[in-house]
Amino acid sequence: MVAASRAAAGAPGPSPAGLPLLSVRDLAVTFRTRDGEVPAVREVSFELARGEILGLVGESGSGKSTLLTALMRMLPRNAAITAGRVGFDGTDLLSLREHGMRRLRGDRIGLIPQRPMTSLSPATPVGRQLRWHLDGLDGPDGAGRLSELLGGVGLDALLDRLDGYPFEFSGGQLQRLLIAVAALGKQPDLLLADEP
Ligand SMILES: Nc1ncnc2c1ncn2[C@@H]1O[C@H](COP(=O)(O)OP(=O)(O)OP(=O)(O)O)[C@@H](O)[C@H]1O
Ligand SMILES: [Mg+2]
Repeated sequence: MVAASRAAAGAPGPSPAGLPLLSVRDLAVTFRTRDGEVPAVREVSFELARGEILGLVGESGSGKSTLLTALMRMLPRNAAITAGRVGFDGTDLLSLREHGMRRLRGDRIGLIPQRPMTSLSPATPVGRQLRWHLDGLDGPDGAGRLSELLGGVGLDALLDRLDGYPFEFSGGQLQRLLIAVAALGKQPDLLLADEP
């Protein structure tokens, strides 16, 4: 079972036209496995206003990561959203095509993944991947922005190690680097934190 508690963050207020920023209605996600269909998220409904913090609490395996991954439309191949509606700032998220979704990801909806090691490519230096997130692929401005950002949150000790690969960092270091980029660098309207 997943429980929710909420609090206001920053300046709360309704989205334009009084819509909640995020509205999830009867969302269901199912995995196809060798043993058949596994329902991982069953009829989940909640709303989130702009500026509000909502905490989801549930035992291990109750579907928290699956729910957040579904909201980003980044589910693994063997998973499908089988029912429900998701509204984000007036947009029907589940009917968006992939290129529309790509415009929202990172810039307007950020995700701090539960396992930073598996969400980064093992074969690309960490700094390069962080710059991709900040600046889009091959953008020219990422390096300066990245050092400014990391310096500002006390991670400057990692700055001269950013040409290292993910396995050369601790889980906590990768987590803090991703939080700095996803939350502070991008300042998305909606930040999904699977490991707050
Ligand atoms: N790729 C997958 N294939 C099949 N089943 C999966 C897959 N990923 C997750 N599941 C199943 O979906 C259910 C929900 O898993 P999920 O990772 O969303 O839980 P969680 O609430 O995030 O757990 P935790 O608190 O441990 O992070 C579990 O029963 C899990 O075994
Ligand atoms: Mg999880």
